[in-house]
Amino acid sequence: MTSDKTKIIVSGMRPTGPLHLGHYHGVIANWVQLQNDPGFDQKYFFVADWHALTTEYDNSHALKGYIEDIVLDWLAFGVDPAKAIIFVQSAVPEHAELQLLLSMITPVAWLERVPSYKDMQQELSNKDLSTYGFLGYPLLQTADVAIYNGTHVPVGQDQVAHIELSREIVRRFNFIYKTDLLKEPQPLLTQTPKLPGTDGRKMSKSYNNGVFLSESAQTAGKKIMTAMTDPARVRRTDPGNPELCPVFDYHKVYSQKATQEDVVAGCRSASMGCIDCKKKLIAAMDETLAPMRDKRGELAKNRGYLKDVIAAGNHVARKAASHTLTRIRDVVGI
Ligand code: TRP
Ligand code: SF4
Repeated sequence: MTSDKTKIIVSGMRPTGPLHLGHYHGVIANWVQLQNDPGFDQKYFFVADWHALTTEYDNSHALKGYIEDIVLDWLAFGVDPAKAIIFVQSAVPEHAELQLLLSMITPVAWLERVPSYKDMQQELSNKDLSTYGFLGYPLLQTADVAIYNGTHVPVGQDQVAHIELSREIVRRFNFIYKTDLLKEPQPLLTQTPKLPGTDGRKMSKSYNNGVFLSESAQTAGKKIMTAMTDPARVRRTDPGNPELCPVFDYHKVYSQKATQEDVVAGCRSASMGCIDCKKKLIAAMDETLAPMRDKRGELAKNRGYLKDVIAAGNHVARKAASHTLTRIRDVVGI
């Protein structure tokens, strides 16, 4: 039973491709911390495959293939099915029914003014995103959270407008149906360390500049060795500026303070070359990532276990969602 004090975390990730280090440090590491936080009564983490479909509708079969691997990455990097409910959005059709009910009371203009709507349309201008499904993206997200009485939603800055919209929709629903059934969620802003792609741009599947969670130490190391550095440091004897170098962003995440200081001094005075600097980074990355890579290797051999985890999570999520939905149908009267 939920009370006014119950705190419930809900968060999702779209399965648009293999996960990279940006996903780990930006999302997964935060989930792992939250799943261990006894201040929250329940944690729901799900694969948002319907959300992925809003932009990848013409690539739907590939999406299916990513789902299990994403959960594999989550588990390898610390998400624990004993502490959080791990599931797949499309296995819980209650999300869709709640979205439909909420769509009845959501003004189209509210959806059109969400900044990500026009931004994404521009960014993905090669794709027709003038669809009903894409416009409804933040409404589906509202349903994702409300169906579990979610109160706290860990998200990056880019998603805060979605949570604000969710709050407005929830208020409108409660007002129209004279209830306090739906909870107004609040964002839990995730502090994300800057981790650019190996070419210095944002780490992204579409730029092919990511270091993937599924990669071996060897492959990841090769990517670091060819990664962009301070462009002003052309020759070994040129001094560099670590603050203008993507490799140094990685050092900030993976290396001890002392190593970082060595790098800063060595780079600025040109007493350390980029190759040595990168070797130090690779060593630090391997130290952090080795246990996760090992675990990933073990889990990858046991697809049956993965399927079981997902099936169990789907079952628990569905039970909770159908409980909420029954009460929602009741207040709507349909
Ligand atoms: N829109 C989120 C993203 O792109 C993914 C998402 C879907 C989500 N449903 C959610 C996040 C519900 C938090 C809660 O990152
Ligand atoms: Fe970047 Fe390191 Fe080379 Fe400096 S020494 S430019 S921080 S790779």
